[in-house]
Amino acid sequence: MALTRIVIDTDPGVDDAVAILLALASPELEVLGITCVAGNVDLEKTTLNAQRLVALAGRSDVPVFRGCAEPLAGPTGTAAEVHGFDGLGDLEWPTPRVEVNELGAVEFLYRELTRGRVTIVAIGPLTNLATLLVEYPDAADLVERVVIMGGASFHGNVTAAAEFNIWADPEAAAIVFNASWRIDVMPLDLTHQAFLTDANLEELRSWGTEVGQRVADMLEPYAAFHLEWYQNRDLIMHDAMAVYEVIDPTAIVKSGVEVEIETDGLFSRGATHFSRSHRHATSTTRVGTFVDNDRFVDLLKSRLATLRSPN
Ligand code: BDR
Ligand code: CA
Repeated sequence: MALTRIVIDTDPGVDDAVAILLALASPELEVLGITCVAGNVDLEKTTLNAQRLVALAGRSDVPVFRGCAEPLAGPTGTAAEVHGFDGLGDLEWPTPRVEVNELGAVEFLYRELTRGRVTIVAIGPLTNLATLLVEYPDAADLVERVVIMGGASFHGNVTAAAEFNIWADPEAAAIVFNASWRIDVMPLDLTHQAFLTDANLEELRSWGTEVGQRVADMLEPYAAFHLEWYQNRDLIMHDAMAVYEVIDPTAIVKSGVEVEIETDGLFSRGATHFSRSHRHATSTTRVGTFVDNDRFVDLLKSRLATLRSPN
């Protein structure tokens, strides 16, 4: 079967890290590159983290690109309190022997779109994708589809209305959701159904691999944050949902939707309005609504267990 060619647009972030490692370990996917954006931490850190992750996975062949350093309307804020000051749980890391590619993230994305069908997996603020659409309007016609982690229809995780990736750059999100490309979006309402537990972390450690140990260690502060925020340590795997959708498009239940982004609003800037009216049933934009966590966790563990770091 032909591999699905993907670019991961990301702001690592510990849950981005799990999503990236899952993609790198999945034989269904060809990861063409990792494009970085400011989000969970600043751009220098998210880019360094992508370098660290491809090195950790023994996949230094996957190029890393630097993208936009600021949201379209100027700085908003980071999520360092969730992911650690360095974005990956503040562990000690070896200096990665992986260069950042000299091509910019947006130029790389467009180049790949002109070379063949590409699915963009967007798991950070949407600044790079909006810039792509502004600079290369035909990008919307060239792409296979865009799978986004972002938004919330019930309750946000930065404000009551807004989820982080949309809150961080609502203007970019509005451009991306208004474009004529095919979008599958995984909001908090879906991603909160997918989580690892402390027992899973113990299992990862028991493998005795660098990847198992590091993933478990980097998720520790994330668990502590969840305990404080949600009163339990379940480790919500937001970003891995976008990768899981591409690995197995039958795994996540989806329905047709119209999405509107609130860019104004005294209390609701960054909110996502999902209309699931029957009028949108056949829309080319779909929202993920249900995932089976046991099935997801089994797949995630089986894939991560195959990764070996070089000596
Ligand atoms: C999203 O926000 C970030 O902190 C995570 O990496 C994820 O992409 C969840 O709201
Ligand atoms: Ca992210």
